[in-house]
Amino acid sequence: QESIVPGGLGEPVLEPVEVPEPGAVTIVVPTFNESANVRQLLHQITESVPARVPCEVVFVDDSTDDTPEVIRAAAQDCPFPVTVLHREEPTGGLGGAVVEGIKAATSDWVVVMDGDCQHPPALVPELIATGERAGAELVVASRYIKGGSRAGLAGSYRVAVSRGATWLTKSLFPRRLHGISDPMSGFFAIRRTTVTAGELKPLGYKILLELAVRSRPRTVTEVPFVFQERFAGESKSTAREGLRFLRHLAGLRTEAPLARMIVFGLIGLTGFVPNLVALWALTEAGLHYLPAEIIANQFGVAWNFLLIDRLLFRTRRRHRHWADRTVRFALLANADLVLRLPLIALLVGQFHLAVLPATALALVITFVLRFVGTEALVYLPRRSRRASRTARSTP
Ligand code: GDD
Ligand code: MN
Repeated sequence: QESIVPGGLGEPVLEPVEVPEPGAVTIVVPTFNESANVRQLLHQITESVPARVPCEVVFVDDSTDDTPEVIRAAAQDCPFPVTVLHREEPTGGLGGAVVEGIKAATSDWVVVMDGDCQHPPALVPELIATGERAGAELVVASRYIKGGSRAGLAGSYRVAVSRGATWLTKSLFPRRLHGISDPMSGFFAIRRTTVTAGELKPLGYKILLELAVRSRPRTVTEVPFVFQERFAGESKSTAREGLRFLRHLAGLRTEAPLARMIVFGLIGLTGFVPNLVALWALTEAGLHYLPAEIIANQFGVAWNFLLIDRLLFRTRRRHRHWADRTVRFALLANADLVLRLPLIALLVGQFHLAVLPATALALVITFVLRFVGTEALVYLPRRSRRASRTARSTP
């Protein structure tokens, strides 16, 4: 290994320097029905991770086939410890599995890689050595820097989808993903102490994105790699996984209250469409426009509820039963309508505002109230409500 050491006066001189041995590493591998691949993967790891690098492999398995048994049998021939954590009730998909694996890891460095041999294990020592040398907390194996490629990404359709997803993600998180050319990569090394496991809410494939955004590694570097062909079998990704990815993005992006309020408002605006369509259909069917307004409003409310519940408050849905959430949300949405008229009357009568600014102000006030009310009355975790009560009652 060489590094540039500045010379006295002239050009920098190349001089061999002592490179620290890569520290111990835990390799975390998520597997879902990879029985035809895991033996080959363990073989490749054995071949390419030098014996002097202390290494352990943790498989986190959600398989319905015999993958765990195949791993245990293959592990007999490995010079390093191999663990299989089989999850009976898998949550979070691939990302949830990886977080479980990181929690079980014991080494300074954790390397995450796929179980189908698309990620070359030969790169594991280099990822860690690069991290040590650069003092980095995260080292991403990237397909998109010089020397890397996505040779194994089969088909122009998948390449286009991958490109679009990378572009969208980078534009949504310009700061957090600065210096990461391949935020979709499933191959990376991270220091164990960097991972804030308690703050993670993994959902599906993009665990690197989750870690980069929520655990905020301070220094990041990249190493190029060639995405290989799958050794056996097919990708486990589906169209459903694509939708999950969009939900994951929405959840990450709306973590900040202001961003959440903006998205809340944008979703609210889209609710006009079902509202107007229903109003049109009901009046066409001969209903008087006043009851039609009230019924049509419920269509807009239902539409908004579905989107807000699924996208915006995905991680807080579990705090209440869905029927409870629906009723509370609907009451708030209709209270908003009922409140607006007296509020406008108040602003005009008492504060002598003109009708238009009074209406605009009333719209803003009821919108903010509705947002705050939805946060507090529909989606606030019960625990934190209880916690604030006890906090108040203890002197
Ligand atoms: N435990 C567990 N649970 N493992 C899973 C699950 C799950 O629900 N779903 C998939 N896996 C495992 C697979 O068994 C495999 O070992 C690894 O995760 C990757 O799954 P693939 O289905 O092979 O993914 P891919 O090749 O389509 O996508 C890979 O490359 C993409 C870049 O193009 C992944 O690394 C993606 O994260 C990456 O974005
Ligand atoms: Mn794969």
